[in-house]
Amino acid sequence: MYNIRIEKTATPKKKPGADDPLKFGTIFTDHMFVCDYIEGQGWVDPRIVPYQPLSLDPSCMVFHYGQEMFEGLKAYKSEDGRTLLFRPDKNWERAKNSNIRLCMPEIPKDMFLQALNDLVKLDADWIPTKPGTSLYIRPFMFATDPFLGVRPSNTYKFLIILSPVGAYYESGLDPVKIWIEDEYVRAVRGGIGEAKTGGNYVASLAAQVKAHEEGYAQVLWLDGVERKYIEEVGAMNIFFKINGTVVTPQLNGSILPGITRRSAIELCREWGIPVEERKISVDEIVEAARTGAMEECFGTGTAAVVSPVGELRYENEKMAITGGKIGPVTQRIYDTITGIQLGKVEGPEGWSVEVK
Ligand SMILES: Cc1ncc(COP(=O)(O)O)c(C=O)c1O
Repeated sequence: MYNIRIEKTATPKKKPGADDPLKFGTIFTDHMFVCDYIEGQGWVDPRIVPYQPLSLDPSCMVFHYGQEMFEGLKAYKSEDGRTLLFRPDKNWERAKNSNIRLCMPEIPKDMFLQALNDLVKLDADWIPTKPGTSLYIRPFMFATDPFLGVRPSNTYKFLIILSPVGAYYESGLDPVKIWIEDEYVRAVRGGIGEAKTGGNYVASLAAQVKAHEEGYAQVLWLDGVERKYIEEVGAMNIFFKINGTVVTPQLNGSILPGITRRSAIELCREWGIPVEERKISVDEIVEAARTGAMEECFGTGTAAVVSPVGELRYENEKMAITGGKIGPVTQRIYDTITGIQLGKVEGPEGWSVEVK
C-alpha cells in the first residue's frame, strides 16, 4: 500500500449538469494526483491535491527535448452505482514500455493502480451517467531537470488528471471518413511510434490539418519506409473484415499497441471469428474495397471504443465501405466492450476493475 496523502479542495467547482455538453477534454475535476521522481531517491511524496496550474522552470527539459509520455483510459458508472475501470493494468504495462523506450524511470505498478483508484474514488461524483459518457483519465509524466542539453533527465513529475467526457458521437455510431496519407509519415520502425508520447502526435498534425481541409475526420498512416503498408489511424488502431476474416496490422514497433485493439482481437478469437495480425498493403485494401471483398472497416480506441469507417480515400480514389453502415462484427465488438465497461456484460477476468 502506498501512502498517498490527500489534500481536499476547499473550493469545489460546479459540476456540469446532466444535460450539459461534455466536449472532450475541456472540463477537469477538483483534484489531481502528483508524484515526483528524483534520481537516487526514487518516487517521492505521492499526493492528491486540488487541481491547479504547475509552476515550472523555463529551462525544464520537457519543453526543449520532449521527454514525456502519457496514457488514456476511462472510468464508468454502472447502473448499480459501482465505479469501474477497463483493464487499467494494461495501461500501466504500456506506460512501462513507453518509459523504457524514452529513458524514463518506470512507475511502480502498485503506485500507478492505487493512484488511479484513490483519485477516481475521490472525484467519483464527477463521473457522468448519461449513456455514452464517462470520466476520461489522463496519466502523464515528463522531464523536469532545469537544463539545456540532450540527455535523460534526472527528475520527473508524474500526474493524473480527470475529465468528464460526453458520447464520442452525438448521433450514435456514425461512420467516419478516413484519409489514407501518402506523403507525410507518423513513425518508423526503430523510432518511437509504439510509445505513447507527444512527439508522435505533433508529427501527425500537418497531415491531420490537410485531411480536415479535404473533409476527412482522421488520417490513416502508411509505414514510414515504403509508404505501402497500413499502420493505424490518428488515435485509433484499424481493422478490416475481408472475406470473413478480421485483419489488423501486426505490432511492428511503429504503431501504438492499443488496449481496445487487443480486446477486440481477444473477443473475435473467443467468438470463433477468424482474426489475423499481419502486414496489410494499401493495394490489398484498395483491391478489397473495389471488388466488394471488404465487408467492414473500423477503428478501435479508448475515446470511441469502435468507430466504423464509411469511406476511405487513397490518392484520388474514394472507397465507400459497407454502404456507409455499421457492420455486424463492428457492432458486436462495440456492444460487448461497452457492456463490460458498464458492468452489464461479464467480461474475461480482469477486464473490469472496481474502484474501492
Ligand atoms: C496513435 C493511437 N493509436 C491507437 C490508439 C488506441 O489505443 P487504446 O485502444 O489503448 O485507446 C490511440 C489512443 O490511445 C492512439 O493515440
